[in-house]
Amino acid sequence: MSGTSAIYKSVVITTIRQENIGVKTFTVTCEDGSPVPYQSGQFITFVFTIKGIEERRSYSISSSAELGEPLSFTVKRIENGTYSRLLVDKSEPGDKLQTSGVAGLFRLPQDFSKYQQFFFFAAGIGITPEFSLIKTLLNTHPKTKAVLIFSNRWQESVVFFDEINALQAKFSERFRVEFLYSTSYHLERARLNKALLPVLLKEYSEAPKSAMLFYVCGPYNYMRMVNLALEEQGVESDQIRKENFRPFERPVIKTEPRDQKAYKVTIRRSGAEQTFICQYPDSILEAAKKNGIALPYSCEIGRCGSCSGKCVKGKVWMSYDEVLMDTDTALGIVLTCTGHPVGGDVVIEL
Ligand SMILES: Cc1cc2nc3c(=O)[nH]c(=O)nc-3n(C[C@H](O)[C@H](O)[C@H](O)COP(=O)(O)OP(=O)(O)OC[C@H]3O[C@@H](n4cnc5c(N)ncnc54)[C@H](O)[C@@H]3O)c2cc1C
Ligand code: FES
Repeated sequence: MSGTSAIYKSVVITTIRQENIGVKTFTVTCEDGSPVPYQSGQFITFVFTIKGIEERRSYSISSSAELGEPLSFTVKRIENGTYSRLLVDKSEPGDKLQTSGVAGLFRLPQDFSKYQQFFFFAAGIGITPEFSLIKTLLNTHPKTKAVLIFSNRWQESVVFFDEINALQAKFSERFRVEFLYSTSYHLERARLNKALLPVLLKEYSEAPKSAMLFYVCGPYNYMRMVNLALEEQGVESDQIRKENFRPFERPVIKTEPRDQKAYKVTIRRSGAEQTFICQYPDSILEAAKKNGIALPYSCEIGRCGSCSGKCVKGKVWMSYDEVLMDTDTALGIVLTCTGHPVGGDVVIEL
């Protein structure tokens, strides 16, 4: 499954664990056996070639970096899926996978002082990054409380069912779990909807709403519903972190920057600099590609965060951004896939 491109790194599969039907967890290391660096909640992007065309697929990391766990990711086999079937059906320990790196902003906050309670809403395989965050949070921040509202079809399809119950038993004072099954006969507690969400929120609340942080991951309609229901309950959008597994539909962009002149972009990484000219409507990522400069990316439409960098000089205008929080933008974090330099040259650190 490995290719030959020099700009990507290879990782080696060390173990494969069957979670339940069609779902496997893969643990990987660098080629020399050293651990792959990552932060809990992030994702790893794999690069492969099919019929001569380069393709990418990202997988959320289900292990915890803070607990010293080697990087693991958990894949659900998709019927007719190109890469998930390759991983789940064909791959074996010892196989090499090409990766463009680890990225993502679906992480625990840097500053915990504002938050007392964390709510995790997950559906199906959307548990993967949240499982990483929950075990990290419970083990490393003893003052915080956590709630997991986890939707599945039935119990047999719940990924990490035993591990979640073990965490619940170990941290029974601080961690509460509600498993919802859409096939349940108890219709009032089956599918999560706009009526049930406020009921659960009230039932599990142990802190003022302003001291809560929410994480949401699952199918698009599920995430949309949770987001709307939370906002209707007075939760600020900056308190809701979302991870979108299917960020492919291109959003409608209605605005354009006032300044559309060409500017110089300098990319700094690992102590080296690369420079190119970016002319609107090309984004910084598109201009880099045209100049043969490989930058990290995955969705290319402002929905995953894998192309983020820190703008340390100049200004970047973004046509679309669904991932950055106010705290990220305050630090100068920008997306290169939807970002355009405005008002002068820019320097971006990766
Ligand atoms: C940030 C991020 C994190 C992700 N984390 C995970 C993860 O932890 N675990 C995981 O299993 N996947 C995860 N994904 C999804 C993963 O990247 C792939 O999209 C998925 O494995 C399908 O790829 P494929 O090549 O098998 O299918 P494709 O060949 O891309 O698609 C084949 C067919 O299946 C449909 N399809 C694609 N994805 C889905 C889906 N999720 N549900 C239903 N139908 C689908 C397509 O529309 C198409 O018709 C993540 C995606 C992103 C962007
Ligand atoms: S590549 Fe996904 S946000 Fe830029």
